[in-house]
Amino acid sequence: MGILQQKHIVLGVCGSIAAYKVAELARNLALEGALVDVVMTEAAQRFVGAATFQALTGRPVLNDMWDLPEDGVVGHVSLGTAADIIVVAPATAHTLARFAAGFCDDLLTTAVLATRAPVLCVPAMNVQMYAAAATQENIATLRRRGFVVLEPAEGRMAEPMVGKGRLPEIATIEGEIRVLLGRRNGPLRGRRVVVTAGGTHEPIDPVRFVGNRSSGRMGYALAAAARDRGAEVTLIARPTLLVPPAGVTMVPVETALQMHEAVLQACEQADILIMNAAVADFRPVEAATQKIKKDGKEELMLRLVSNPDILGDLSQRRDLYKVGFAAETEDLLANAQSKLSRKGLDMIVVNEAVATIGQDDIQATIVEASGSVLPLPRQPKQQAAESLLDAMVHHLNETLDAEPETSQ
Ligand code: C5P
Repeated sequence: MGILQQKHIVLGVCGSIAAYKVAELARNLALEGALVDVVMTEAAQRFVGAATFQALTGRPVLNDMWDLPEDGVVGHVSLGTAADIIVVAPATAHTLARFAAGFCDDLLTTAVLATRAPVLCVPAMNVQMYAAAATQENIATLRRRGFVVLEPAEGRMAEPMVGKGRLPEIATIEGEIRVLLGRRNGPLRGRRVVVTAGGTHEPIDPVRFVGNRSSGRMGYALAAAARDRGAEVTLIARPTLLVPPAGVTMVPVETALQMHEAVLQACEQADILIMNAAVADFRPVEAATQKIKKDGKEELMLRLVSNPDILGDLSQRRDLYKVGFAAETEDLLANAQSKLSRKGLDMIVVNEAVATIGQDDIQATIVEASGSVLPLPRQPKQQAAESLLDAMVHHLNETLDAEPETSQ
């Protein structure tokens, strides 16, 4: 089940030209199963119609504080107290000022004042209004009080002006919502998770490399799923066209040697390592400094040397929960089981290499150190990532429960 399923999200929309963009956010959240209550300020209603949000969320849009529900519950207060998160997007200078001053003269300010849930403000406004001392001081006040206030994006504004004041990308806002919900009560909150993704590139010369077909999609989905469960996630991968999940720390690497160093360093502080990368087993002994020319050669010999086994080097770290991946073309289970014990893993995920690497779907089988084998259905990598993280959480909890209590 996704982190947004059945979550009460109050989406406060203020009067900025960016209000229309937030319709997409409302739609995405609702499609993920969240119960989205849109609250519009008076000014917001001049930019976008309530009908738009109502249709996208399937719930009535709440605008009037005095529009009391028939069951007699004081709606404007219960909205704040029942919320899992309040998201204010776009947040205008005026509404930020009202939050900072503690006003409660409309539905949104009242819900914000009455809530214990995280409040995420996403400013979008004129460049000068954002830079104004009053706005900056109000934002600093709100942050001091625990509000999360995103930085606006820079670029071309609706008025012919370039600067800082644009609404950040919807994916960034959605990522931040997932981070805050996860950190509030996700099963991995307080845990540090390191994920590796994609294939490494081992240089032959400045423009050529030895590599493989791994796209990185599985690892990126695992990083997002760990983030959604509240973990602090470091994603170590070669940069590609994939957009790193918002709220995840990205460590770019190119080669197996660089990944080796980055993983060892990140794991010093980590609780869980998910080693999904398709690390090149061999690298050219040395990379030519200039592009290798054909020069009429009939043959070119490449001498390769083996790369360090990253997981193998961590096999003694008993305090680190280690998950490996095995992409095999034959004897899937036997190969996975021998890798699991050879590398001292807690779990290994095995799949058929050709049917998976570079594809959108995966048929993964989970093999645990206890010997249990759980085949998952063939499914999109995002869905598989959710199942794999659920299995890890389950296994981790069991392991922790089984550990003898330390004496005082
Ligand atoms: O050693 P092999 O490639 O068969 O095992 C695959 C698992 O080991 C994957 O989890 C992969 O990320 C990891 N691996 C590693 N260091 C290597 C090669 C693979 O950690 N040099």
